[in-house]
Amino acid sequence: MDYPRSIGTGSKRSDGTGIGTVYPAQAVATDANTTPAIPGYLQDIYRWAYLDNRNARILDRELIVKAILWGQHRRLQQAAFAEIKPGQQVLQAACVYGQFSPALAQHIGSDGHLEVVDVAAVQVNNCRRKLKHYKNAEVRHQNVMHLRGYEVDIACSYFLLHEVPDDCKSDVANVLLDSVRPGGKAVFVDYHKPHWANPLKYFTSLVFETLEPFAKGLWRKEIAEYGGNDERFVWHKEVYFGGLYQKVVATRLN
Ligand SMILES: C[S@@+](CC[C@H](N)C(=O)[O-])C[C@H]1O[C@@H](n2cnc3c(N)ncnc32)[C@H](O)[C@@H]1O
Repeated sequence: MDYPRSIGTGSKRSDGTGIGTVYPAQAVATDANTTPAIPGYLQDIYRWAYLDNRNARILDRELIVKAILWGQHRRLQQAAFAEIKPGQQVLQAACVYGQFSPALAQHIGSDGHLEVVDVAAVQVNNCRRKLKHYKNAEVRHQNVMHLRGYEVDIACSYFLLHEVPDDCKSDVANVLLDSVRPGGKAVFVDYHKPHWANPLKYFTSLVFETLEPFAKGLWRKEIAEYGGNDERFVWHKEVYFGGLYQKVVATRLN
């Protein structure tokens, strides 16, 4: 497969914050048969969280995920799983800390198939370890933005979009939409702009401004818009926890 040659990390702002950095949508060069390059935003913003083995071991616990999501993780996971039936073929875009993937493999059962795709070797190895007892699941080392030719029942993104730059949000959304067969669904669970009266709104805003520079892209724009309001799909959105989280389901008509 042909991809643009390596651009590596984005072009940095002179203050060194990384915020305002331009991360080209195709920020990496890779080939299906080679190790994918780490996207610039992951290297610059999330290295500590996803590329460091020791930190990954600490963070990869249900309790941590539960705390980060204000105790809503189980509810949000159930909301995602409610869209997925046993026996279905599922593409999961990016690894998730905790037991999300083993629970999903369990949920779809032995007639189903789960493929998790992640660009970071640390995460791929970690997830392979968690899924080693599930014969219906595999983990692929690849950049989600470079996936082509998939035809699955469900393409699922669980808290990936808020971590990628806005132009990459569109790339991820479009790749996932293109992977869904007629009758199937793309399921996105992620952050959302909280209701004005949500007491967590200002704290979340501070966290995003400090640690998650691309998250507010989901406050400004609907996930359906990132997916180009693709007319092959019927779009449905539900919000949770005072609007802090959302589930968007795009069901493919034809
Ligand atoms: C799903 S997101 C965040 C999930 C959530 N914060 C959690 O509890 O883990 C984190 C993952 O996305 C992966 N990732 C980021 N950009 C990616 C891309 N373009 N392709 C594949 N994986 C990507 C990272 O390597 C990391 O494993």
